[in-house]
Amino acid sequence: MCGIVGYIGSQQAPAILMDGLKRLEYRGYDSAGIAVHDGAKLCSLKSKGKLVNLAGKLENTPLTGCLGIGHTRWATHGAPSDINSHPHLSSDNLIAVVHNGIIENYMEIKKELTAKGYKFISETDTETVAHLIDYYYTSGFDFREAVFKTLERIEGAYALGIICKDYPDMLIAARKNAPLIVGLGEGENYIASDIPAILNRTRKVYFLNDNEIAFVKADSVEIYNRNHEKVHHDVYEVKWDIKAAEKDGYEHFMIKEINEQPKIIRDLIEHRMPENGNRIDMDGIKLKKDDIDYISRIYIVACGTAYHAGLVGKNIIEKITRIPVIADVASEFRYKDPILDEKTLLIVVSQSGETADTLEALRIAKKNKARVLAVVNAVGSSIAREADDVFYIHAGPEISVASTKAFSAQVIAMELIACHMAMEIGRMSAEEFKAIKEEFYSIPSKVSAILQKSITEKELAKKYVQSKNVFFIGRGLDYIISKEGSLKLKEIAYLHSEAYAAGELKHGPIAMIEESSLVIAVMTQERLYEKTLSNIKEVKARGAKVIAITLNDNKLIGDEVDDVIYIPHSSWMLAPLLAVIPAQLFAYYVAYLLGTDIDQPRNLAKSVTVE
Ligand code: F6R
Repeated sequence: MCGIVGYIGSQQAPAILMDGLKRLEYRGYDSAGIAVHDGAKLCSLKSKGKLVNLAGKLENTPLTGCLGIGHTRWATHGAPSDINSHPHLSSDNLIAVVHNGIIENYMEIKKELTAKGYKFISETDTETVAHLIDYYYTSGFDFREAVFKTLERIEGAYALGIICKDYPDMLIAARKNAPLIVGLGEGENYIASDIPAILNRTRKVYFLNDNEIAFVKADSVEIYNRNHEKVHHDVYEVKWDIKAAEKDGYEHFMIKEINEQPKIIRDLIEHRMPENGNRIDMDGIKLKKDDIDYISRIYIVACGTAYHAGLVGKNIIEKITRIPVIADVASEFRYKDPILDEKTLLIVVSQSGETADTLEALRIAKKNKARVLAVVNAVGSSIAREADDVFYIHAGPEISVASTKAFSAQVIAMELIACHMAMEIGRMSAEEFKAIKEEFYSIPSKVSAILQKSITEKELAKKYVQSKNVFFIGRGLDYIISKEGSLKLKEIAYLHSEAYAAGELKHGPIAMIEESSLVIAVMTQERLYEKTLSNIKEVKARGAKVIAITLNDNKLIGDEVDDVIYIPHSSWMLAPLLAVIPAQLFAYYVAYLLGTDIDQPRNLAKSVTVE
């Protein structure tokens, strides 16, 4: 989604803004722009397309100044174009605004301002904000008050960066339902929608809360709430290294992140299942026997890949605790009038911690007195801050739009939560825990072994790159990995792909199987081998080519398929962590051969902060 960066200090803002925007490219965008205060006036440059277009314009028309705001836009209101790009300026060039989110009542405000003589040149909701601030400002309010007044009028979600021609020493930032941070430097300060934008310049940040406004000068930052009361924030020191947000020699972030998985899994397991301990370290999360006994229902809610991790959680929690769990995608859950009360536990799963639908699901649950446990990667994100308890997965920054390492860490988190609950309520004995712990500890090296043999997926990608339709099939946990594998292929290779529960094929989808079809069968659940095998035979009989992803001791698969990707043996519960790796690699290499924009696939955004 859109990205914001802002700077105030003594250095030249344009270079800092462009560098920050470059670091936000991964979020997905279709146009970009900057506005700079040159000491006398506001100047802006905007361009449709990638940042290199904007950089070209900047080379032809250099801007100078030590205060500025920049933006990468992911179109919502109005197509990607120079005019619709941010920053938006008021007609008299007094105010410039960058905005992430959606102003829901912009039509009404636009109508009022048009009646007052304001001329709108873009199709965006954001332009309304620039004109509205201008309206209050030119009516006699000072810059700060004009922004306060504007925030009272606008509805919806926003992270805003605002500058004014008459205030060369002030950058204003405001947020509601969209992330925004203030970065603290020496004699200079920043604003950004995301830490990587400024991490090479400062590690000290304030996370703004909803309905807060920051008045940022070169040597001071003051934060106020909507009641005009000054609020205090602790400085948060970002722990992770800038290297984590760089490619580090890899061609794409996605392949780098795929390769980071053994370490992330190892760190998470060692942290939560200390070698000499006999329990899972839940870091103070309230999920003791009494808490679990009190719960009457559990929901797991998330979007996309995080939802798939949630589905793994649902299956495992139900299987080993015998507590029923409902898993739902957040965009559906929020409009379903779900049954929620103080006996409900809602587990939300989110890499970014900012996904609008997931955040809203959390808020609905809290409003109805449910307890919320968040499984989150981004420290300090909105979901992490609003949940009652947080299980951090500590996967480090995930830059590639397609989620890989966060998925594995989310799956581990769900499995650990399941095991913890089972132990608390006496459904997992100390011996069983010991055995499963050993299994967990074996996973990182098994993932490494799969990665070392990635030549297999590369070769298979070459062989099947021309496939027009790809079907992933599996049963139980293998069905969930099928869904994840299919999603990866769709999002980065733009290949039509579907995932089906293998047993469902003959209830309709098998009609689509023909000579050119590729079927990828995930087979790691030994008790279901024979069932899936019969489904493989059904598609083979209709001319499909079949690749199986299965455990290396599967004797049944033999000559039944065209190709096999063997993965190390694993227990049913942990097999998803292994099976997903070939699926990720296959999608990556197919996309590579097709020449798509792997880290920033078309139309997609990293953090989906709008509905
Ligand atoms: C797929 C992908 C998305 C996200 C989804 C939720 O590769 O990245 O499907 O998983 O948008 O995002 P988070 O986890 O940030 O809530």
